[in-house]
Amino acid sequence: MGQPVQVQFLSPALTSHWTDELHLMSAPVTRRTFAVDGWSPSSWRTRSTLQQPEWIDPGALRASCADLARLPPLVTSFEIEALRTQLAEAAAGQRFILQGGDCAETFDGCEPGSIAARLKILLQMSLVLVQGGRRRVTRIGRFAGQYAKPRSDEFETRGDLKLDSYRGDLVNGLEFHENARTPDPHRLIDAYSRSALTLNFIRSLVDGGFADLHHPEYWDLDFVQHSPLRDEYQKMTREIGQSLRFMETLAGSPVHEMRRVDFFTSHEGLVLPYEQAQTRRVPHREGWWDLSTHMPWIGYRTAVPGNAHIEFFRGIQNPIGVKVGSGTKESTLLEMIHALNPTNEPGRLTLIHRFGTHEIAQCLPALIDAVAKSKARVLWVCDPMHGNTQTVTLNSGPQAGAKVKTRKFAHILTEIEQAFEIHKQKSSVLGGVHFELTGENVTECTGGARGLSDDQLAQSYRSRVDPRLNYEQSLEMAML
Ligand code: PEP
Ligand code: CO
Repeated sequence: MGQPVQVQFLSPALTSHWTDELHLMSAPVTRRTFAVDGWSPSSWRTRSTLQQPEWIDPGALRASCADLARLPPLVTSFEIEALRTQLAEAAAGQRFILQGGDCAETFDGCEPGSIAARLKILLQMSLVLVQGGRRRVTRIGRFAGQYAKPRSDEFETRGDLKLDSYRGDLVNGLEFHENARTPDPHRLIDAYSRSALTLNFIRSLVDGGFADLHHPEYWDLDFVQHSPLRDEYQKMTREIGQSLRFMETLAGSPVHEMRRVDFFTSHEGLVLPYEQAQTRRVPHREGWWDLSTHMPWIGYRTAVPGNAHIEFFRGIQNPIGVKVGSGTKESTLLEMIHALNPTNEPGRLTLIHRFGTHEIAQCLPALIDAVAKSKARVLWVCDPMHGNTQTVTLNSGPQAGAKVKTRKFAHILTEIEQAFEIHKQKSSVLGGVHFELTGENVTECTGGARGLSDDQLAQSYRSRVDPRLNYEQSLEMAML
């Protein structure tokens, strides 16, 4: 972490948001260190659990957890505190959060091309958001640990064979045979290792100049040729380039700090033995830290007051997210907020709402009112993906006849637009967005500038769980 660029005395409106963007982690950090009554890293075990695999060899699970507990942490408390500060700023409208990545990372996907592509798209989207929103942007990847999935159905049946559903590479394999689908505790170590490899590569790329914003390929926007908004996109990229050059002129180029940006990690903290094993104390700080990721979140299916997930999360020092949807009642939300953030600390709690474009207008206002009335401090983030999932049948290619999940670009966009509007009407702040996306050229969501149709989904449908925006659709979404 270097010194911030010193240009405050020359800060015209055009450049202030860039200056802030480059002001790397120099703000004072928000610390949260309070004693948590009756909590321990294992106290969740006394509560009812949801979405946990049935481990048939408890001895092997204990051995994996013991191993995890003595291996080095994946992230540090300093980084976690820095993120927490930034989340508090986003809640206050001074910053914007871009959270994104795969629905389910896979062990196979731990390879350089895929990791670099994910980093690149998040970086590009964030620059577009900085330029358009005139606010600093914090990038949080759904990566380096997003290996466990909740499932609506516990079992999957094909013909006469009924097996456990695939629960993500952290738990079992995708192949449809008994061996692969049996939860395997060794996978916890593999997930940790792949997370460490991913994070190591990300840190090296970021330190080594990957995030140098001058790389021309960052601004090679071939797809905009297809868009009716072509002229606007090209103007925007020209302006980003101009802002960068202007900043460099002010600061004296080349400036090392201008070539570095931060990335944080997040994943759904679903498999509690895995999270518990990486939860520890650290020197010079109070409390317990889940060092498997900077920001774990509680999924929609496990966000139930009094259950094991709420119990585990309430005791860790990390900033945490909670998914909120059309089934979340106001009283339930307030109960969870009280359990997870009883002292109302800024930056501690992010509510990630995911209603779907057809339900957001009906559901969100009442939740905003309830939270405002309670005076709870939260950061609101919109996930426009999980309420907009539809099922279609692939009609060509090797997977012809298979039912897959898809999402329409237009539904995703209109949910975000409504979210901004509703928060504005309620004098609330929408402080971020949460996407399932990939830096690769998959065909999983329809629509966008190229007008991808249902018929084209078979061309490159690769997601194991939920459909992701591809590279072009992601960038287009940020621009819109
Ligand atoms: C997810 O984020 O991949 C997910 C399963 O979301 P939700 O818990 O909101 O359904
Ligand atoms: Co998903």
